[in-house]
Amino acid sequence: MELEKVINERHSTRVFLEKPVPREIIERLLTFSTRAPSAINLQPWEFTVVMGEELRRLGKILVKRMRERNISCGPDAVRPLPEYFMDRQRKLMDCILPCLEKGINFQDFINEGSCNFYGAPVAIIVTIDQVFSKSRLVDLGIAVGYMVLAAHNMGLGTCPIGIISAFADEIKEALNIAEEKDVVVGVGVGYPDPDSPVNLASSSRTPVHEVARFY
Ligand SMILES: Cc1cc2nc3c(=O)[nH]c(=O)nc-3n(C[C@H](O)[C@H](O)[C@H](O)COP(=O)(O)O)c2cc1C
Repeated sequence: MELEKVINERHSTRVFLEKPVPREIIERLLTFSTRAPSAINLQPWEFTVVMGEELRRLGKILVKRMRERNISCGPDAVRPLPEYFMDRQRKLMDCILPCLEKGINFQDFINEGSCNFYGAPVAIIVTIDQVFSKSRLVDLGIAVGYMVLAAHNMGLGTCPIGIISAFADEIKEALNIAEEKDVVVGVGVGYPDPDSPVNLASSSRTPVHEVARFY
């Protein structure tokens, strides 16, 4: 598929088919992800792939903890966000909300869905060794960028899940991830339900001239 088509067609997937993804496909996806550039080729990313019963078990733990601790998806900002950022967040809600079945609350859909990886058959937990500073998180972000585009090109849907970093301890315990690793982000991976309106919701982007300056 042409790169332009891959970039323009990819949207986050929030409704997955109950169709398993073979391990070899995930290995291929990770091979593409790890072609990403990284500072002095450190490749600081690490991946824990969770599937099947293990993933359902993890999802239950995270949903339970999310409810107990009253945690919800948010910008994780250190100060109140300027209005133009809030507007982008609102636009995301505006494009997903009309696609939800009647009676489904938007916040519940996003919070519970995220903690459950939206029922995806595979979740990839992305971690980094605490030996690295925050600067290296950018390398993980690039690898996830490669991942979501490669997945789309392979006919797979993805949804990055940032909220899971709030449950780092639970995830590390459930998946036997070493204490000295930080949980950065997760990615739900699976075959998108082609009939789901939620999956077709296309979030808008601020025009380039508003976010870029040329000298
Ligand atoms: C780092 C990161 C964290 C995210 N965390 C979540 C999340 O916890 N729950 C969720 O539903 N979507 C999450 N998303 C998906 C974004 O909401 C989505 O990418 C954005 O709204 C743009 O929509 P699009 O991916 O369909 O283009 C995350 C995306 C990124 C890059």
